[in-house]
Amino acid sequence: MSILITGIGELVTNVSPDGGPGGDGHGGFAAMGDAALVIEGDQIAWTGPASRAPAADEQVHAGGRAVLPGFVDSHAHLVFGGERSAEFAARMAGQPYAAGGIRTTVAATRAASDDDLRAGLRGLASEMLRQGTTVLECKSGYGLTVEDECRSVALAREITTEVTYLGAHVVPAEYADDPAGYVALVTGEMLDACAPHARWVDVFCERGAFDGDQARAILAAGKARGLLPRVHASQLGPGPGIAVAVEAGAASADHCTFLTDADIAALASSETVATLLPGAEFGTRQPYPDARRLLDAGVTVALATDCNPGSSFTSSMPFCVAIAVRDMRMTTAEAVWAATAGGARALRRPDIGYLAPGARADLVMLDAPSHVYLAYRPGVPQVHAVWQSGRPVALPQRRPTPAPPYPSAALPQRCPTPAPPHPSAALPAPFHPSVAGTAGLWDMRHRQRA
Ligand code: NIG
Ligand code: FE
Repeated sequence: MSILITGIGELVTNVSPDGGPGGDGHGGFAAMGDAALVIEGDQIAWTGPASRAPAADEQVHAGGRAVLPGFVDSHAHLVFGGERSAEFAARMAGQPYAAGGIRTTVAATRAASDDDLRAGLRGLASEMLRQGTTVLECKSGYGLTVEDECRSVALAREITTEVTYLGAHVVPAEYADDPAGYVALVTGEMLDACAPHARWVDVFCERGAFDGDQARAILAAGKARGLLPRVHASQLGPGPGIAVAVEAGAASADHCTFLTDADIAALASSETVATLLPGAEFGTRQPYPDARRLLDAGVTVALATDCNPGSSFTSSMPFCVAIAVRDMRMTTAEAVWAATAGGARALRRPDIGYLAPGARADLVMLDAPSHVYLAYRPGVPQVHAVWQSGRPVALPQRRPTPAPPYPSAALPQRCPTPAPPHPSAALPAPFHPSVAGTAGLWDMRHRQRA
């Protein structure tokens, strides 16, 4: 079964002119106007100018909308009980953020049933999907007993293959006087129980959590069990986390808020991606990481939400893109690359983050003519349609909002005649442009059998 999506005002491919997946950090972003693509099964089969689009079993008219690779959220903590809105309110009133708040969520997570944890996790995952995230990473780290960490990774594995064992999130209260004993548990019995469900091992290397030597031991033990390392590093202050991540060959060092010149040099000469999590700085009122400094040094940068109930309770990649552009000195192209191809690099996934033949057919159609609108219209829901592995995702019905008339240059040259809606259309119901002359620009009803 093949689907042709045509009439695309801007197709973000992240594919360099030589045809390979996008380049390193900056420069990897690529897009074409007046484009089309073909999905065959779960993969992209063809991309190119709309005027040269081949036939397919089914056709969708994008009406001048932009199509992007699905967002890759490479850092999220979705298995937890309770919430911490009072702590957030206190921070906004002047209290500092402290790693110790994690223990509040640990208590609530331990007290929650599997079904409650599963419902929360699935609710957040579907919230992400509706906002265009087609691949997400999910960590444990709020259980901190063998049993609670094991059920956390097992639950995460129900919704994603990108599962991270984060038994080393903080030292739980019952081990406050014996941190070495807790590290022994994390690298021993707890690791044995969790490794079968996980792909990654992570550690919060920070004052108040785990120091450099503890972090090295935890990553080494995880690697010995076949897990790939990633690190929470330099979130609350400078520290050894970046060096530990680079030494361990981590796929990603995450947060990177307080970096020394040596940290940046180490990242630049490594394969370790710097994953920036602006939702955490928003939620803790810290300074944003300086993405420009990283990009100019040649570091590969990813953006992710860090979705968790303590520091960053957002599930929105578009929100992170908007902050990165406004406050972290990233261009709109760099931010979109970082939220798609950058996340794919941070997860070492060669099949996602770009749109070209052979890529997984994960894509987002915006209610906008270009990727720039993600930052230009912050806070506005602009995801019109999502395909995950080639399948359309059901989105809630949109309100009948007038659409802006796009320049006629963005008008598709093909399929100008609206066709009646196909009765089995699984795509979201269209909204009805009320601006005269825009019918056909936005209307997904132009879906037809070829
Ligand atoms: O990535 N930094 C450590 N972990 C989370 C915060 C967890 C929490 O406060 O509950 C983070 O920001
Ligand atoms: Fe985190």
